[in-house]
Amino acid sequence: MEQSNCGTLPPRFVELKREIAASYPDFEQRVTKAWKEIVEQLNETTVAIIKEGPNYIPQVKFIDLANLGADEVKKIKERGTVVIRDVVNDEEAVSWRKQLVEFINANPNVEGMPADNKQFFQLYWTKPQVQARSNPNLLGATAWLNSLYHANSGKKIDGVDLSTPLTYADRFRIRHPGTSWGYHPPHVDGGSTERWEEPTFRKCFHDILSGEWRNHDPYELEGRLSARTSLYGRPSQSTVFRTFQGWLALSETAPTQGTLKVFPDVGLANAYIILRPFFRPLVPVNDPRIFDAKNWQYDISSPEFPGISPRDGGFTGPMPTPELHPHLRLEQTMTSVPKVYPGDAVFWHCDVVHSVEREHTGDEDSAVMYIPAVPLTPMNKAYVEKQKERFLAANRPPDFPQGFSEANFVGVATVEDIVSSIGRQAMGISVAA
Ligand SMILES: [Fe+2]
Repeated sequence: MEQSNCGTLPPRFVELKREIAASYPDFEQRVTKAWKEIVEQLNETTVAIIKEGPNYIPQVKFIDLANLGADEVKKIKERGTVVIRDVVNDEEAVSWRKQLVEFINANPNVEGMPADNKQFFQLYWTKPQVQARSNPNLLGATAWLNSLYHANSGKKIDGVDLSTPLTYADRFRIRHPGTSWGYHPPHVDGGSTERWEEPTFRKCFHDILSGEWRNHDPYELEGRLSARTSLYGRPSQSTVFRTFQGWLALSETAPTQGTLKVFPDVGLANAYIILRPFFRPLVPVNDPRIFDAKNWQYDISSPEFPGISPRDGGFTGPMPTPELHPHLRLEQTMTSVPKVYPGDAVFWHCDVVHSVEREHTGDEDSAVMYIPAVPLTPMNKAYVEKQKERFLAANRPPDFPQGFSEANFVGVATVEDIVSSIGRQAMGISVAA
């Protein structure tokens, strides 16, 4: 059965598949065995995810982070997503939301989407954003998340300190009730064809490609550190290593109210997505036999990487779909995060398949600031240096679509709005003695 997006990737991607296949011993035999096991595991795990719904996603309190039991930490790592309660206090989070609304009202020219009813804003340097990013609890939570990663060699790596968090300036959204949101279907950020194409990034998935998918560790650090996740220079492709992406809730938002959805098993989804381009189905996708691994065949003759498509001179995706990735059972397994309150934060591992709910059936705005977990590494430090210069000039950060400086807006933050010394350090601004 041919894939619906056939013919969209250049023929050289056949060569890439051949190159990968040739670089692992007994590739066809080993990945075929692995594919069968992964499909069977998915048939099991997806049932559990569907049954539990939002409760499948771990929830912890910020003050408990340092004392979590090993089982809880294991669950967070496996599921790849966590709600951390009360990272900042409710009043402060609500006040930030109010200030963001005031900023937008005071500066009607700010760029946002959709243009006729702006809800997602191209703003990086408002005071609430700069204050939130430098909040010591928030930076503490991101340092804790960074520390879930480790180097298999056990050795200290030059220039890397997981306990030192850095700031990555991103945007915010204030989503209105009733509006349908088609911008964020299920996808994985932080690299597209690069996962297969870029030799260092590919190393992160070495155990999957060698057929030992159960050994795959999404928290192994070394491959991630110098992986180039943006080979084509597309805008809005992150060039830093974010251990987890995240947002801070500025309002109450429950499932169905425009919140985040995730596929809550990061290692299993990685195994499936990474091997998917090497197999083709033998029955139509709407045939129930599609779920049986014996109706799939090893095939590297097509340049397609299902879920990846060309964009802006590079590629976008992976965007898994029910048609291309049936075993993920996305229509049922994309799980909404549990209800959040102002000051709660949600973090998801950089490989997690995530989306934003299409509908917002609540009656309040649903507001979040995007604030990921970024550890000190040489590559991240170099980015923060460039980002700092942009901040000082109120220009957009290097990874994002370029446009108007924020300098002429009323109420833009200055260095004085960075509220802590750990926040100044995270921005690459030297801390006064
Ligand atoms: Fe995303």
